[in-house]
Amino acid sequence: MSRRTLFAVEEIPEHLLQYFEPARNKHCTIKPLALTEYLARLIRPPEAYLDEAVILVPFCGTGSEIIGAIKAGWRRWLGIEIDEQYAEIARVRITYWQKQAEADREKRAQLEMELQT
Ligand SMILES: C[S@@+](CC[C@H](N)C(=O)[O-])C[C@H]1O[C@@H](n2cnc3c(N)ncnc32)[C@H](O)[C@@H]1O
Repeated sequence: MSRRTLFAVEEIPEHLLQYFEPARNKHCTIKPLALTEYLARLIRPPEAYLDEAVILVPFCGTGSEIIGAIKAGWRRWLGIEIDEQYAEIARVRITYWQKQAEADREKRAQLEMELQT
């Protein structure tokens, strides 16, 4: 039987799956990352402002809205969560997506340099 997760399995490395399964992530209002990314894209400022702009996510739960923002290109964020267990899950998930986004940006910059030469 395949593992049940709340997110697209192909997006998540095996060693992090435990943080995404209902057994570990019991948050009551988990949302699909595609939805949170779409919403964050609607309010994302133009590229020139992204180094200064900060997206504030109060009551951030396990981080889905922050991850959506990172996937939508936001670079700075601030999340507030009172429950330490939810905050820990958020930290793990956000760290993973932040690394992905940084790697993507580096790849894009490299490609642009190659195209210019
Ligand atoms: C309805 S959930 C929303 C979670 C997340 N934004 C989402 O959409 O998945 C509200 C969250 O706010 C947290 N919370 C409640 N009171 C809080 C407070 N005073 N300060 C920070 N977080 C709080 C709860 O622990 C819960 O994770």
